[in-house]
Amino acid sequence: MNNNLIAVYPGSFDPPTNGHIDIISRASVIFPKVIVAITHNQNKEHLFSLEERVEMMEQSTSSLKNVQIDSFSGLLVDYLDNIGSFVVVRGLRALSDFEYEFQMALMNRTLNRKIETVFLMPAQEYTFLSSSMVREIAVLNGDFKKLVPDAVYKKLKNNKRI
Ligand code: PNS
Repeated sequence: MNNNLIAVYPGSFDPPTNGHIDIISRASVIFPKVIVAITHNQNKEHLFSLEERVEMMEQSTSSLKNVQIDSFSGLLVDYLDNIGSFVVVRGLRALSDFEYEFQMALMNRTLNRKIETVFLMPAQEYTFLSSSMVREIAVLNGDFKKLVPDAVYKKLKNNKRI
């Protein structure tokens, strides 16, 4: 194995969920180094700022020593090029994710033919979990403690915007 191999797990992570952390820990076992690259998704309106999402992700992954948190703007392929990586990690929860992920993986490969996307499946208990559902439960005052890392739970509970 190439010991300098860097895998990049990109996403909006608004907010990070236990499903994201599950994928990150699985990737950290496979790859020597994992960078969680947080960005703005043009198709989504975000609840938390980029800085807040970076901070929550840092707090939630501090025990994983080969995991680093970063943020980027612009195209993912350009970010990968800048840091010298060609491996993208994405989580695949269910068939419903497939079309979007397939399209994104092939578009990234169209933009740069060297890019490989690796899909990891989360633990079964997280296959239904999404950031948008966590936000909705939080807004409607439901119990979401088991769905997110502690740091995210505190941040969502204290969020004046919801
Ligand atoms: O967690 P998300 O919101 O599903 O992640 C999507 C994300 C951020 C990985 C994707 O929108 C992305 O890569 N954005 C960066 C801009 C880009 O490269 N767009 C072309 C992707 S085909």
